[in-house]
Amino acid sequence: MTKIQNIGVLTSGGDSPGMNACIRAIVRQGLSSGLSVFGIYDGFNGMIDNHIKKLVYGDVSNIIQRGGTILGTARSERFLDAAFRKVAFENLKDNDIDGVIVLGGDGSFKGAKVFFEEYNLPFIGVPCTIDNDINGTEYTIGFDTALNNAISAIDKIKDTASAHHRIFLVEVMGNNSGLIALNTALTTGSEDVFIPEIEENFAQFETKIQRAISANKSSIIIVSEGDEIGGARELFNYLKTKNLHQKIRVTVLGHIQRGGAPTFLDRKMATEFGVMAINQFVKNNYNRTLGLKNGKIYTYDFESVKGGESVDFQELLNTIHSLSLY
Ligand code: F6P
Repeated sequence: MTKIQNIGVLTSGGDSPGMNACIRAIVRQGLSSGLSVFGIYDGFNGMIDNHIKKLVYGDVSNIIQRGGTILGTARSERFLDAAFRKVAFENLKDNDIDGVIVLGGDGSFKGAKVFFEEYNLPFIGVPCTIDNDINGTEYTIGFDTALNNAISAIDKIKDTASAHHRIFLVEVMGNNSGLIALNTALTTGSEDVFIPEIEENFAQFETKIQRAISANKSSIIIVSEGDEIGGARELFNYLKTKNLHQKIRVTVLGHIQRGGAPTFLDRKMATEFGVMAINQFVKNNYNRTLGLKNGKIYTYDFESVKGGESVDFQELLNTIHSLSLY
């Protein structure tokens, strides 16, 4: 087995806070292990366009605290095309890159698996997405920061909601996963939450809302963007038909959830995942994805299945309901 010497690193899909901390750890651990690390820019597009640069120690100085990704990211349409993947492989070869670390989510790993199997090229996947929806890992880099961003925005909304005794429908991200919604609802004391994993009981929801209105109480309802109702605006349209005699406002939190300085947890996880990624190449244990299981980082063979398997959605929802007034 030939020893891997030159490692490429790229970020793909939606950026997530902590990606920079992970890139820093990969570069510094790589250099400490006697390897060379190359930055591949704008996700898989950087391979196709040969936008690749050798990274030195100072390239990753002062980035541990920054959101986004210094490498840029993309959801590459071209990478779905075999002809472009061939160009990508030729460019990696020209740069003498013999292994690649992919920081991304489910979609990025799916693309990566096809490519790296096609060309028999070693890779390691590092789970990075605010959605925390990757099969096989209990944690993905960026989830904690996104939750904290959502919580601090909702705390502010609560001030004005309670001053006006209003109902606020707050839409959060998460793609097809309700994990951001469920956890923000739980930790902001919200009255209810709409998530894709559990079908809503509309009759019960309306009774609860009516009770809150009678008590002149404000309500915060969190709506996951992936819920089958279609988002907070659609829930608003539905409630309008009920003539509730209470002002309802809609806030879509959007991309503020994905920005800003990573929290302690994301910096720590990103650093540990980054170090582990390099160590796998040193040990020749590649073509694996890193994950967290029972608090420990491990490697596994990625299969694209919806994540969140370790969460009891119904139990958390029951808790939210039993802790809210109505
Ligand atoms: O996967 C991360 C995520 O932020 C999802 O929560 C959201 O659905 C999606 O990306 C938004 O993507 P874009 O930035 O392309 O609008």
